[in-house]
Amino acid sequence: MAAPQRQGLALLVLLAVGARAGCPFGFSGGLEDAEGGVQGAGRRLQQAGCNINTLAQQAVTNPFVPANPAQGQVDNYIKEVAWKVFQTGYPGFVPGLYKNGVLNTKVPLGGLLRLSFHDAGPFNKAAGKGGANGSLRFELGVRPNTNKNIIDAAGLCDRWRTMINNALAADPKVPKGVQISYADVYQLIGAAVVVAAGGPTKAQIYDPLPIGRRDATVADNVAQMPGGGISWDNLACLFLTNGYSLEELVALSGAHELGFRQDRTTPMTANPNSFTNEYFTAVINGNRNLFNSDRVLWGNHARSDAAVQSFANNKGVFFSAFAKASCSGCGAS
Ligand code: HEM
Repeated sequence: MAAPQRQGLALLVLLAVGARAGCPFGFSGGLEDAEGGVQGAGRRLQQAGCNINTLAQQAVTNPFVPANPAQGQVDNYIKEVAWKVFQTGYPGFVPGLYKNGVLNTKVPLGGLLRLSFHDAGPFNKAAGKGGANGSLRFELGVRPNTNKNIIDAAGLCDRWRTMINNALAADPKVPKGVQISYADVYQLIGAAVVVAAGGPTKAQIYDPLPIGRRDATVADNVAQMPGGGISWDNLACLFLTNGYSLEELVALSGAHELGFRQDRTTPMTANPNSFTNEYFTAVINGNRNLFNSDRVLWGNHARSDAAVQSFANNKGVFFSAFAKASCSGCGAS
């Protein structure tokens, strides 16, 4: 059964850092802006007790996420209904990821993937609150969710969710009252976009994602999200102290393969609508269209360097690492 009423699966695993069940972002500082400027206490992100070398050596097993959460048949069915809606929308009325069988680049692909991350990211570890809970819909217009792409992406998710729920309501195979939550739509769409843009396959990244997230009714504290100007130390500590390896940080950052900078016209990589591994060559080259958070992945630590190099060398290795980091605890991908 699907959220919001469902009690069953406490799933919590998703596309992005905050996604890990109980161990997502525990930022204590304010935002750092995209160019490294400082907003509020951004420069004072807490790093007490963070030793990058020590943490980076530790085996990363996420203690918070149940392995292989079993999905019921209804869940899988709902995911297929959602998948179809995402692909085509309602021709003539609601756009889909494809139009006439071709990737629809008018849809904010980058904004949709970023939205998955931004719903999951503001997790307060200490309070055990936040994460992938659909709260993004209350956080639009508040930094860092001010750009048109993410706002448009959220609007599109609203429309897709309505379509999915209408389809479920009319389907005799689906028990009465079952609906999909915003939180599930926000996570599923991130995976669907990556597949549509030529990244990991549906079997690798979409199918393993559990659903059943409950929707929050208030905003999370989005000031916990990192800005593009974040330093290496703060970025590495942030991910490591939340249970992510440096390799996972590098893999997830590869999402910047897709999309645009805040001017909405400058692509971050040569092919902003295509999910490949070109991003990592751009990182090695110190491409100025990337953010500081991207460029610092190279030249600061042997493990992140090795990951950047191996993802740059081999697209398949990157896809598999991205899918796995996106859905840690979902089982093998
Ligand atoms: C590692 C820490 C990260 C930082 C500091 C960061 C920061 C940023 C910033 C500053 C932007 C530009 C915002 C704007 O245009 O207004 C951006 C765009 C983007 N981010 Fe991240 N991000 C991070 C990780 C991620 C992750 C984990 C994902 C998804 C898995 C992601 C997906 C995206 C996408 C797809 C865009 C392009 C959005 C568009 O086309 O509108 N980012 N990010």
